[in-house]
Amino acid sequence: MRDTNRTPLQSELEEMQVYGETRVGWDENTPPNETVDADGNLLPENRGFGVSDPNSPKCRIYDDPEVEALRARLRQRNGIRGLEICEPTEVKKAARIFRRDGFVVVKDLLNAEQLARWREGCAEALREILSIPGQGNRKYVTETGRLPHRYSYGTSSASRQMLHHPAWASMIGLPTTTPIVTEIFGSSDYRVWGSGGDLCLPGAIEYQHLHPDGRDPQHLSEARIEQAKRVGVELHKDDSGNLSVPTQKLIMEMTPPTVTINFVMCDLTWENGPIRQIPGTHTMQQAPPSPADEPEWMRHSTLVGATAGSGVFRDNRAWHGATPNLSKEIRALPNVEYAAPWRTPQGFTKSMPHEIWETLTPYTQKLCKWIKADPGVWPTGAGIMHPLANKRAEAAKAQNS
Ligand SMILES: [Fe+2]
Repeated sequence: MRDTNRTPLQSELEEMQVYGETRVGWDENTPPNETVDADGNLLPENRGFGVSDPNSPKCRIYDDPEVEALRARLRQRNGIRGLEICEPTEVKKAARIFRRDGFVVVKDLLNAEQLARWREGCAEALREILSIPGQGNRKYVTETGRLPHRYSYGTSSASRQMLHHPAWASMIGLPTTTPIVTEIFGSSDYRVWGSGGDLCLPGAIEYQHLHPDGRDPQHLSEARIEQAKRVGVELHKDDSGNLSVPTQKLIMEMTPPTVTINFVMCDLTWENGPIRQIPGTHTMQQAPPSPADEPEWMRHSTLVGATAGSGVFRDNRAWHGATPNLSKEIRALPNVEYAAPWRTPQGFTKSMPHEIWETLTPYTQKLCKWIKADPGVWPTGAGIMHPLANKRAEAAKAQNS
């Protein structure tokens, strides 16, 4: 029987899916570029990842004239022209494009059952995040240090990962993705680092700033040189007997520290916030342009045309960012992150419960060796979702005690 005492917001969330039309989002009471600190206070000095977009429309209203003007521009120009989309069987071609551009889109990675399972998981986790009442008359709590209507499954989870969730854990070693990840790394000795992903609600009118995910320290370790050889890098020495500078650069280029696959839950359109990727930036040492300096072509360099069930393999070093979602559809891109074979166990956290690890295939269990918790030890924070950093920390502490 339906509960007639539900508020409109509760019924919106109950019906919500991460594909197709939804009533979720478009909160006109959340001002553009507003973000919050770890406790939910508005106007923090440190905006964290919530870098302002100076070109954003001034109202978060679906048919506001500035939103309409942005929509008209996106309809006309959004999307990389001639974006190559590979079949899962085109393993070598996918790896070649990945190394050239720093990303590659591959279609049909998920079958219908896997797509349905992950969509359901994404909606379930998002319901938890959005069910916390917003400040004042706002519909939702913005995530600490992020722009409004944008959330990360990873950072909203008190364990920083989603590997406690069967939907996320079951996507780690798919028959469609494993050959491509193995080809990119040149061996099957890579590891799972984590699993999360990001999403934007309809009405996320601001551009997220361009950024790489993490820095490459560019240390030339023996293991990294070995991996470079496995993917075909020829080693040339200079007159002093050291690896030549072009060889050193090529080693760095061909051996990304981390490869992430973001999976597409709904077709990416010009209107629903397709991710933007700037080709060839995976080896750049300089910082990407700020939102004020970003040229128009970078704002439109998006993956329009990627269909539900496909995925984008990303070299985490490549410049990327989220774009405005002016549609009525949630755009979710859950992910799996893989660490290169040359990486050491340093920095890995044990965020996957033993019970979940036991359900995996032997191959996938091997990939998760460095993130698996011991039997009887629940990973700190696993299963707690909250948009505010301090609430997550408090809940994780209470869970431990
Ligand atoms: Fe990112």
